[in-house]
Amino acid sequence: MKQILHGHIVHAPKLGALEILENGYMLLENGKIAGIAGALPDDWKGCEIIDYSDRIIMQSFCDMHLHAPQYPMLGMGMDLPLLEWLNTYTFKTEARFADVDYAREIYRRLAKELIDNGTTRVCAFSSLHLESTLVLMEEFEKAGICGFVGKVNMDRNGSPELQENTEDSIRDTIKWLDACPKDAHIQPILTPRFTPSCTNELMAALGKLAKERGLYVQSHLSENTSEIEWVRSLHPDCPQYWESYDKYGLFNSHTVMAHCVHSDERERKAIKDHNVVVAHCPDSNINLISGVAPIRQMLNEGIWVTLGSDIAGGAILPMMGVIAEAIRSSKIRRIHSNWTVDFLTVAEGYYLGTTSGAHYFGAGDGFANGDPLHAIVIDDRHYVDTHRLSIRDRFERAIYRAKTDDICAVYSAGRKVK
Ligand code: GUN
Ligand code: FE
Repeated sequence: MKQILHGHIVHAPKLGALEILENGYMLLENGKIAGIAGALPDDWKGCEIIDYSDRIIMQSFCDMHLHAPQYPMLGMGMDLPLLEWLNTYTFKTEARFADVDYAREIYRRLAKELIDNGTTRVCAFSSLHLESTLVLMEEFEKAGICGFVGKVNMDRNGSPELQENTEDSIRDTIKWLDACPKDAHIQPILTPRFTPSCTNELMAALGKLAKERGLYVQSHLSENTSEIEWVRSLHPDCPQYWESYDKYGLFNSHTVMAHCVHSDERERKAIKDHNVVVAHCPDSNINLISGVAPIRQMLNEGIWVTLGSDIAGGAILPMMGVIAEAIRSSKIRRIHSNWTVDFLTVAEGYYLGTTSGAHYFGAGDGFANGDPLHAIVIDDRHYVDTHRLSIRDRFERAIYRAKTDDICAVYSAGRKVK
C-alpha cells in the first residue's frame, strides 16, 4: 500500500543538522519510508495523500531509560537523593507490582501516555516480578510501542517487600526470557538494577546469559557520589564503577548505561571503547541532586549519547520536555565552566532524543529510506503568530511549548497509533 504524507517535514539526520522541507511530501510503502521530496514527484501522483498541511511532521521520540513501575509515583518524592529515595519511596512503589491486575491497569495507562506524547520506542525497566513484566510487554505492544523491556534483577540491598534470592532471580529470568514472544515489537533486555543490587553470583549468571543468548544489557552507572563509594567498597578490586559490570561480561557493545553523571575521562574512554550507550537523564539528575552530566564532553569524545526520562526520578514523561531539560542542563555546565563548554542546541537535543536512540533499534539517520515510519505530527496553528514564523522557529517552539494535545497524530513502526 502506498500513501503520501503532506506537511512541513523536519528531521535530524546528523548531530546538529536539522533538515526542513516546507510543504514537503513523504512517500510510504507498507508503512516504510520510500522517499521525501519538496514538491510532489510525477511518479508519486495518484497515491492517497494524507493531508497535514501547515502542520509539522517530525520524528517521534526514543525514551532510552524509564522505570515503568515508578509511574504511580511520578511527580512525587522529590525531597531525597538517590539511595535514600530508593529506600523511602521507590522500592515500596515497585513492590505493588507483585499484583498483576494492578500492573495491567497502571501499565495500560503508562503506554497510552507515552504514545500520546510521541514516544514510540523505549528501553524500559520493569520491576523484579516475572508476570507483571510480561504484562508490561503486552501493554506496550498493544499500544504500539517498540523496543526493549527488562525484568529487573535484584538479590541484595533491596527491601523486605522487594528483593529476590539469587536462585529465584536467575530461574525467573530464564522463565521470563522463554515466555517472551519472538516476533514482537517489544523484546527482552537483561536488567541488573545496579551493582549494589546484585551479588557477584547473579552478575556472573547474567553475563553468561547475555553471551549465550546474544542479549543486550541495561543498568545504571555513576549516578551519585555515595553510590560510587558504595560500589568501591563492594568491589575493592575494581578501580572504577564500570569495571564491576565489565568483570561479569555486562559492559558490552549496546549496553545502555543510565546517567554517567560522574564518569571521568577514564570511565568515558571505557564507555567509548566498549560502544556502550549513555542514556542521559537530565531531569532526574537534578531532581535526585545527582549532578549535571558532562554531555558536551561525551559528544566531543564520540560517545553514543541518548536521552531518557528516567521516570520517576525524572518527573517529565514527554520527551520534548526531556530535550528542553537536556539543553538547560548543558547550559548549567556552561555556566560552571566559565563559558568554556558549549551548550546543546535545539537541533542537537532533538537528535539525541530521536535519531541517536533510533540507531539502537537499527534505524538509519533521520527519516531514512527503508525505515518503518516513526513520526509525530504537531498542530501548532493555534499558537500566536504562527503564520509569521519560519518552520525552524515553530519547531523550536514546539520542543519548548507543545502540549500533548498539540500532537495530532503518531506513527510507530509504520502504523498510525494516535
Ligand atoms: N539506581 C538504581 N535504581 C535506580 C532507580 O530506580 N532510579 C534511578 N534514577 N537510579 C537507580
Ligand atoms: Fe533509572
